[in-house]
Amino acid sequence: MVDDFIAGLPKCELHVHLEGTLEQRHCGALAARHGLRPPADRPASYDGLADFLADYYAAVDCLRTEDDFRELTSAYLATARRQGVTHTEMFFDPQAHTSRGVALEAVVTGIHRAQEECTAGGGPSSSLILCFLRDAGAESARETLAASLPYRDWIAGVGLDSDERGHPPAEFAEVFSSARAAGYRLTMHCDPLQPDALLHLWQCLDLIGVERIDHGVDCLRDDRLVAELARRRLGLTVCPLSNLRLYGDLMGDAVAEMLERGLLVTVNSDDPAYFGGYVADNYEALADAGLSREQLARIARHGFEAAWLPPERRAAHLQAVDDYTAA
Ligand code: HPA
Ligand code: ZN
Repeated sequence: MVDDFIAGLPKCELHVHLEGTLEQRHCGALAARHGLRPPADRPASYDGLADFLADYYAAVDCLRTEDDFRELTSAYLATARRQGVTHTEMFFDPQAHTSRGVALEAVVTGIHRAQEECTAGGGPSSSLILCFLRDAGAESARETLAASLPYRDWIAGVGLDSDERGHPPAEFAEVFSSARAAGYRLTMHCDPLQPDALLHLWQCLDLIGVERIDHGVDCLRDDRLVAELARRRLGLTVCPLSNLRLYGDLMGDAVAEMLERGLLVTVNSDDPAYFGGYVADNYEALADAGLSREQLARIARHGFEAAWLPPERRAAHLQAVDDYTAA
């Protein structure tokens, strides 16, 4: 159950993988439609990132057509709306589909149609972020970037996700530089508790010039890094229920400490169909862990501050948060 204050608080989501919004039942229905074996049951928790990713990549096999991607996106946007999300920036993993023979055009067009329908139907507003799979390497990322250019107007930025071990940001410096030159905004995952976490975070700043970091909670172990992230007002997209289901720890204290230390921390759902909750459920989990309404409202503001929105739309969203908390 989500508390009324949290449900009504205008929220921005900046870290959600569309493929991670594929609910088990929806996956089963798609599998039946395409004559595939029904998906395996999902466990309540995972033993870290790689264990989760195996399930996640197996499930996407039921996504085959433009309509499948449209349906997936529509379902997420409808849930986000019910949860009080007024703007969302959604990741997708093109290589997880093109590697199975699904055309990038079908993926992107299906998602885009759902976004248009949602905007026409009262929102939330949304934009799209293309994530490269770090374990597919830099050459595949370069090919994916080139293939994305015909859809440049439909894609706001690029990110980097999947298994982080042995795949530092530096490996992708050139492709991210090309993406920037093509007009894309830049973000990257630095998942919790990964080997070389601090090195990866510094590379995001020094080599890539990212505009946000996805997760990034390990920064708290390095005072100089915290100071630099605070100085740059760099958004950190933390995902409490993801932390809980992958690492057995919500990391609510870390969120409170990030706020305390002046970081632009935001709260997001990551892969809500796997981790037991959408964005309002993540706020609720933090409330249960002791965060106050004032802290949660500050986090909601941070979401809109860190979003890739034009100034006048950002201001309107921030005003909506302020009006809500003043009421
Ligand atoms: N981290 C890395 N890869 C992912 C994630 C994540 O949080 N979600 C989906 N793919
Ligand atoms: Zn993620």
